[in-house]
Amino acid sequence: MCGIVGYVGRDTGSTPLDVVMEGLARLEYRGYDSAGVALVTESGIDQRKRAGKLENLRTEIAAHPLAASSTGIGHTRWATHGGPTDENAHPHLGGEDDALALVHNGIIENFHQLKAQLLDTGVSFRSETDTEVAAQLLGREYARTGDLTAAMQSVVARLEGAFTLLAVHRDSPGTIVAARRNSPLVVGVGDGEMFLGSDVAAFIGHTRQAVELEQDQIVTITPEGYSIVGFDGAPGQGKPYAVTWDAAAAEKGGYDTFMEKEIHEQPHAVADTLLGRTDEDGRLVLDDMRVSEDELRAVDRIYVVACGTAAYAGMTAKYAIEHWTRIPVEVSLAHEFRYCDPIVDERTLVVSISQSGETMDTLMAVKHARELGARTLSICNTHGSTIPRESDAVLYTHAGPEIAVASTKAFLAQITACYVLGLYLAQLRGGTYADDAAQVMQELRGIPEKIEQVLGSMDRVEEIARFMADTRSVLFLGRHVGFPVAMEGALKLKELAYIHAEGFAAGELKHGPIALIDAGQPVFVVVPGPDTPHELHKKVVSNIQEIRARGARTLVIAQDGDTDVEPFADEVIRIPHTSPLLQPLLAVVPLQVFALHLSTAKGLDVDQPRNLAKSVTVE
Ligand code: M6R
Repeated sequence: MCGIVGYVGRDTGSTPLDVVMEGLARLEYRGYDSAGVALVTESGIDQRKRAGKLENLRTEIAAHPLAASSTGIGHTRWATHGGPTDENAHPHLGGEDDALALVHNGIIENFHQLKAQLLDTGVSFRSETDTEVAAQLLGREYARTGDLTAAMQSVVARLEGAFTLLAVHRDSPGTIVAARRNSPLVVGVGDGEMFLGSDVAAFIGHTRQAVELEQDQIVTITPEGYSIVGFDGAPGQGKPYAVTWDAAAAEKGGYDTFMEKEIHEQPHAVADTLLGRTDEDGRLVLDDMRVSEDELRAVDRIYVVACGTAAYAGMTAKYAIEHWTRIPVEVSLAHEFRYCDPIVDERTLVVSISQSGETMDTLMAVKHARELGARTLSICNTHGSTIPRESDAVLYTHAGPEIAVASTKAFLAQITACYVLGLYLAQLRGGTYADDAAQVMQELRGIPEKIEQVLGSMDRVEEIARFMADTRSVLFLGRHVGFPVAMEGALKLKELAYIHAEGFAAGELKHGPIALIDAGQPVFVVVPGPDTPHELHKKVVSNIQEIRARGARTLVIAQDGDTDVEPFADEVIRIPHTSPLLQPLLAVVPLQVFALHLSTAKGLDVDQPRNLAKSVTVE
């Protein structure tokens, strides 16, 4: 996820540089590993870009001021392809004499093929990004057509993936052309000036009149107005609306908290993490793989090292990876890894999972694993962070920056990435489940829509949470992949609402924890789908019966159409049908929403709970 701004204006008193820099400051929450601006000036494109926070760009511009202009674009980046360096920062230049500048949000899935074609024709590249490919293609198309909108139309027809592109050309001052597919873009309408942004925060200081674009549309803005066409060239229309948020709310996309916003970004986090994972032949591919296929084929044991929510993602993945690959997987809390004298050698793959890539416990576990000779693979959300740098291979989650301390979208993206890894290993090693990879990938691609459905039906969960604001203890039960979901539900509640909460494997109840059940004790139960093997569904339904008989208030998360739970449930929270291993991607969502609203009902700070930091960089 990156932040994008564009501005054109005439005699308005605003300068493009000021407007763009102000917009970038408001969009910095969308990505902050590098930033840049490009202006169309009398002598051509003038641009500055710098790795690091926006402050670095400000310093650069102060040292090397930009020429006057009426047209500017800017970008604040959250790296996907290519690390957070000056060269990889946007804008990227293209065309003859670098006459065109382009910024991009999203992932161009087929950029390897396009880049190879461009290299064959003698084009050279300055960055490792997918974006520069689009800039080069657009520069060439402009040279051919002399029309930026027509050039954009012909380029987007060749791109696969999700993208918002904004481009300016030296020979078209006063014009910005933008395109969107599965990535956000809004137009801001001013008087003698027009704006573009990834969201309204980009221009909220200047206008509240906005136009939402549909998928697969191209918009051209000039100081006088805007025009829209579809990717197919057909005239299009946007949806005008008035923004009712203030600047602070705009950064949160109109949500009250970053956590709520991030919960709602989960469909995108999953979809983006799946982007670009298959090659032309439908075979799975990973990022930065510095371990040979032979080494991976030889792996006979996997350790997952992670902390907190990331460890629960690892516990979920254990079920799937073992099932698909038949390789034993052990999940170790990273801070315990070194002390358990792990059985690790060069045939062991140690998979670390970390949103931030900076968690010291996880980093130390990775270093220890390397010392023992293991191959290390990092599943991480932050390009350029320490853990991926210290690992042999990386699989990036594409959840975008997670600002709220409580992890939500990163959890779903981590499970998704772990599943991609499991399928990749299965494919590499052949065997029973290798052929299932395509089918599981297809089901995974349908998950974002199902998460949307869950998010659209959370009213009752919010009500229950508000009603339970005085509750002192909540228990969570699950079996199989529902077990880590139960623990994640409990963790969310502890950290956000400061309530005692425990997650148990439902089968463990009878071995002790059932003594905790008293009249009115709230218990969430994650129920596997009726088609889960080993009669697991039936067993969990009996667990619900047992606790209900002892007075528990049962809050049951069950698949659509599962009527068996109804006689024993005080509340049934419905989720769509999935195959058993994919259910955590849906079942955890109501638990996140519950914790969020219970915390809010208690008047607590949802985004920054007490005693906690986003990234724990001490052991
Ligand atoms: O950045 P990481 O994923 O390595 O962080 C690991 C944990 O500290 C993190 O998941 C923590 O448990 C979350 N705040 C929980 O919501």
